Amino acid sequence: MAVAFPNTIETERLLLRRYRWSDIDDLMEYAVLKEWSRYIRAPYPYSRVNAQEFLADRVGLSRQDQTVWCLEYKGKMIGDVGFAWHTKNGAGEIAYGISPPYWKQGLMTEACLSALNTVFGVDEKLNRIFAAIDARNKGSIQVAGKLGMQREGLLRKNRFHKGEFVDDAWYAILRADWMALST
Ligand SMILES: CC(C)(COP(=O)(O)OP(=O)(O)OC[C@H]1O[C@@H](n2cnc3c(N)ncnc32)[C@H](O)[C@@H]1OP(=O)(O)O)[C@@H](O)C(=O)NCCC(=O)NCCS
Repeated sequence: MAVAFPNTIETERLLLRRYRWSDIDDLMEYAVLKEWSRYIRAPYPYSRVNAQEFLADRVGLSRQDQTVWCLEYKGKMIGDVGFAWHTKNGAGEIAYGISPPYWKQGLMTEACLSALNTVFGVDEKLNRIFAAIDARNKGSIQVAGKLGMQREGLLRKNRFHKGEFVDDAWYAILRADWMALST
């Protein structure tokens, strides 16, 4: 997407910023945990090489088709929220994750809401944000609901994930929904 989004966003408790190479130790702390990768593509077990490859893709990210902010909390990098842009369709796919010790404190919702407000606010051509969520991932479905995303359907056995076929729940928020929620 040709739109220039801010490099940093401040929320009540978090600083959303670009990844740095020095985030590698904080990343390793949670990416090695089994519960972290249960529903997402990240490999398990997770190695330092995996972390280096992950950061190589994100530090100094200059790709037009992605925007990612990591989450800094009390000086520590604890997760991220990002978008893969489908510019032709005025759409973006949101993805998010936060280190297990920080779950259920409202931090992911706080980060995603700010990121969503930023992308809809800055990019006037953006019409739709969607997410494909492993239907078993209750936490992620909760977050999507808190963002004002609506469930649009269930894709049965949509992906082969870590040894089994899994259902994906499809969630989305349109610009019109976002505007109605913002007023
Ligand atoms: C899914 C995930 C992002 C949720 O993050 P979080 O910081 O716990 O989310 P929040 O604290 O903002 O939670 C929002 C609500 O969901 C609830 N919730 C969070 N995890 C839950 C779970 N596993 N089961 C049921 N409810 C859950 C919270 O209690 C909160 O409810 P409340 O507002 O009524 O108190 C986090 O578990 C995670 O990063 N998992 C690993 C990566 C991942 O699966 N990412 C999503 C890929 S689609």
